[in-house]
Amino acid sequence: MNQLKQIENLIKRNQSECGFNTLYPFTTENIDGYIDLFDLKNKSLLTLGSSSDQAINAGLLGCNNITIFDICPLTKFYYYLKLASLLSLDREMFLRFLCITNYRKNTSSNPNLYKKNIFDKLNETLNSLDYESYVIWDYLFNKYGSKEISRLFTIDVNQVDSIIGCNRYLVDDDMYRLARKKMPNVDIKFIEGDVLSPNINEKYDNIWLSNVGKYLTEEEISIMIEKMASLLKQNGRMLMNYFYSTDIPYKCESALNSCNYEKIIISGEPLNIVDNSVLVYQKSKLVVGVIMI
Ligand SMILES: C[S@@+](CC[C@H](N)C(=O)[O-])C[C@H]1O[C@@H](n2cnc3c(N)ncnc32)[C@H](O)[C@@H]1O
Repeated sequence: MNQLKQIENLIKRNQSECGFNTLYPFTTENIDGYIDLFDLKNKSLLTLGSSSDQAINAGLLGCNNITIFDICPLTKFYYYLKLASLLSLDREMFLRFLCITNYRKNTSSNPNLYKKNIFDKLNETLNSLDYESYVIWDYLFNKYGSKEISRLFTIDVNQVDSIIGCNRYLVDDDMYRLARKKMPNVDIKFIEGDVLSPNINEKYDNIWLSNVGKYLTEEEISIMIEKMASLLKQNGRMLMNYFYSTDIPYKCESALNSCNYEKIIISGEPLNIVDNSVLVYQKSKLVVGVIMI
């Protein structure tokens, strides 16, 4: 399989050379801090995020139609590995199996990370969820150890306590079980692509652009906003976040103003430029502010 060859090449290369070809094992965004700004129950969501945490948190709140759109070619395979882990392991084991960083403060290593004996507990579920993902992970877990498998993931990761704080589905066992109950009902799709030239035809109630803005130039941000704004349904909401003290929010504003499709308005003027701010635009209605998360 051609894909397997590419994945094995990633394993052999230095992670820092791989850019967005590598996966985010967990979100680096405080999803829990912004998720309540969105109406997700029985609605649709288009989201970036190779961690798939956006999808699981949205599914937990009843979102039943989710498209994960990301430039990382491994996103779909990781989603199914994570979902199979959620469905097959308890919360503690889920974290131990998938948390790259020190599992609990100040412990130097996590002996359960990507361990084959834990994979064996979920591979049947994975097989039933998505055969292609099963073939890939089964091959990798049989051939490689956790050190090699870790190379498929970015080094930009949080500690486990922060991971739990960002993800409502990980906050406690009840939330985790609720996510386990809800996720099988989610209609999930994957689109591999670039925000600058999205190959998407549907429209969505919600769009989350994760923290992609800081990797784009001013011109590219305008292009992204224009393209993504056109995919939002009437009264739909779009999120951009984490601007790291740049003046990108202002640039977003002019990009939005130049959209001649239905206008999406950036709220709260003047905007404060803050590292962890979240900007939410609502199509046709000025509603939401800038919040710190
Ligand atoms: C800084 S990371 C944030 C990851 C995120 N917190 C998560 O939960 O996965 C940005 C995400 O956007 C994706 N990305 C970066 N540039 C992109 C582009 N031009 N088009 C589509 N996706 C992109 C990356 O693959 C990654 O998943």
